Amino acid sequence: MKKAILILMATVLVGGMLFAGGGQEEPAAMEDVMEVEVLHWWTSGGEAAALNVLKEDLEAKGISWVDMPVAGGGGTEAMTVLRSRATSGNPPAAVQMLGFDIIDWASEGLLANLNDVAEAEGWDAVVPEALQKFSKYDGVWIAAPVNIHSTNWVWANKKVCDELGIALPIRSWDDFIMALDKVKASGRTALAHGGQAWQDATMFDSAVIAAGGPEFYKKTMIDLDEAALGSATMKDAFDKMDQLRSYVDDNFSGRDWNLASAMVIEGQAGFQMMGDWAKGEFLNAGQVPGVDFVAFRTPGTQGTVTFNADQFVMFEVDESLRTAQNMLASAILSPTFQVAFNTVKGSVPARTDVSDAEFTIIGKTGMKELAEANSNGTLFGSMAHGHSCPAAVKNAIYDVVTAHFNGQYDAAQAVQELVKAVASAK
Ligand code: BGC
Repeated sequence: MKKAILILMATVLVGGMLFAGGGQEEPAAMEDVMEVEVLHWWTSGGEAAALNVLKEDLEAKGISWVDMPVAGGGGTEAMTVLRSRATSGNPPAAVQMLGFDIIDWASEGLLANLNDVAEAEGWDAVVPEALQKFSKYDGVWIAAPVNIHSTNWVWANKKVCDELGIALPIRSWDDFIMALDKVKASGRTALAHGGQAWQDATMFDSAVIAAGGPEFYKKTMIDLDEAALGSATMKDAFDKMDQLRSYVDDNFSGRDWNLASAMVIEGQAGFQMMGDWAKGEFLNAGQVPGVDFVAFRTPGTQGTVTFNADQFVMFEVDESLRTAQNMLASAILSPTFQVAFNTVKGSVPARTDVSDAEFTIIGKTGMKELAEANSNGTLFGSMAHGHSCPAAVKNAIYDVVTAHFNGQYDAAQAVQELVKAVASAK
């Protein structure tokens, strides 16, 4: 009885808040179920800490959170679980998703329409264009963007670097190789890496830019230009991957990315090449930026930013679940949540009107570089994280990059395989 009254009060309150901007109040439905089931892959310590910000925010509004975690960066495993839930006609209310995956799901007609919330809260004016491209389908808002991550970063153990006389930040590829050599010579693992396709691909995005610059990245990973994909410059990108491979320890295969971060945190390794969600992991371990760890753009990629954005895609659910689903969408886009969440997660807000005051120096730099790259035309979607080309092409590129990284092809063969794989997937 008590619970029913509470639920009713929450519904009335939220109905009022949600639609206040639109000037009308939605009548509260007695039978509303105030819970949201959320499918996501935020299972590391830093990710879980960030997710808690959202859970607590919703719980304070009377919504219970039904957690559906599926480990695996890049979301490949999560998409497989989602497929089976959707096939049995029972998708979760909200699903963490990246870029082109969203478009694929939207084209199946299974997603909810968030336009009422989006209009009432003015999302069109504050969500960057590069994100709206994936948050909307046929003019309908189908997803609530949570953040913007960027992927071309190196994370360094400051004490290890100081001890070995490595000056940070490192700017050029050659200096990076020299630094890796020094760490390797000290008996540590030079490059902490987890051998999973999406992690190999994360390094490959940067190797492509370091080999051919931003124009080359655009031609190959976005325009899928056959001549550029098969060029000598692409061979240089694979040569760079071969160099990186020589600094990875013997146990890299299958390792989760956060365990690779832990190797840097604990000083067993010097560097990790990873998106800025790694910052959440360092912070969660009590590390202080500039004192314990330093982050810098992957050498050879300065001025270019490869990004991805996590969005919570809302599925068409039973009417009784819609108020809670709309409240989740509304909570995600609120400026206070955007700051509270992104300062923990390592990402930057998915709105253009949020101050950087609460962010660390790395977050402030990230926001500044993102804005600069955006106005210079050097902000690109990350291939590795589903924002440069459709999922089928991305998966075809993953296969070649991983096979090469594991020694199945030399660099010249990898170039040929890449051309073939992209041609048959696009
Ligand atoms: C997501 C991040 C996540 C990372 C590792 C990326 O694809 O965008 O939010 O932290 O995978 O799990």
